[in-house]
Amino acid sequence: MKLKIYKTKQKVALNFSKYLADLVVSKNVVHIALSGGSTPKIVFDELALNYVNSIEWAKVHFYWGDERCIPPTDGESNYGMTAEHLLSKITIPAENIHRVKGENNADYEADRYSNLLNKNLPKRNSIPAFDLVILGMGDDGHTASIFPHEIDLWRSGEYCEVAEHPETGQQRVTITGQIINNAAEVIFLVTGESKAEKVQEIIKKGGDYKDYPASLVNPRSGNLIWFLDEAAAQGIISDRS
Ligand code: 6PG
Repeated sequence: MKLKIYKTKQKVALNFSKYLADLVVSKNVVHIALSGGSTPKIVFDELALNYVNSIEWAKVHFYWGDERCIPPTDGESNYGMTAEHLLSKITIPAENIHRVKGENNADYEADRYSNLLNKNLPKRNSIPAFDLVILGMGDDGHTASIFPHEIDLWRSGEYCEVAEHPETGQQRVTITGQIINNAAEVIFLVTGESKAEKVQEIIKKGGDYKDYPASLVNPRSGNLIWFLDEAAAQGIISDRS
């Protein structure tokens, strides 16, 4: 596990964008699972501003690590946010965009998306393997859409499951632990003061870290990087000085 800590969330976005550009240069095709949330939104804005022509977008296939079971036009759609902040501003073939169809029946869509991953992605350990999975982390330690109250979804034998938001009950389709930990690289984008407690517990393996799905992210490849701002990393910075 590597930690990359930057002063501000803007600097997280700037540095992760550079990291992503370098990854795309190094491959002929790149299968990336995107996350929703506020930090990815800033990354998408940075990519749309400064990487429109410097990334060969035709090499990139976008998928979603989780999606709300709502239409793509709904303001809460992760795909919708990505379309607004990035996809509408770059030239990328429509066939490279593999959205979770939130408008479908949740169980049907979890099954459909599992089959799509199985068909589209290269295999590693006989399991579909992303080149990169981008994850956020909720204040409660959830990641993708695996929440603490449904942490058993992490160990599902399926590639995708239907999850439920603990407060709103909103259904989500999420990739599961076997897909996340089979990726060539996994990157957390976590910023803001509200994440500091969980980041500290998870990185230092203290408190109730075992209750948080984000603590289960441990790719077999060993390639896990946390991109953090100082606000989210305040509980671990002191150890590093
Ligand atoms: C979602 C996201 C989710 C997100 C975290 C962190 O669909 O809600 O995929 O897992 O990454 O909630 O979100 P913030 O970065 O906005 O706190």
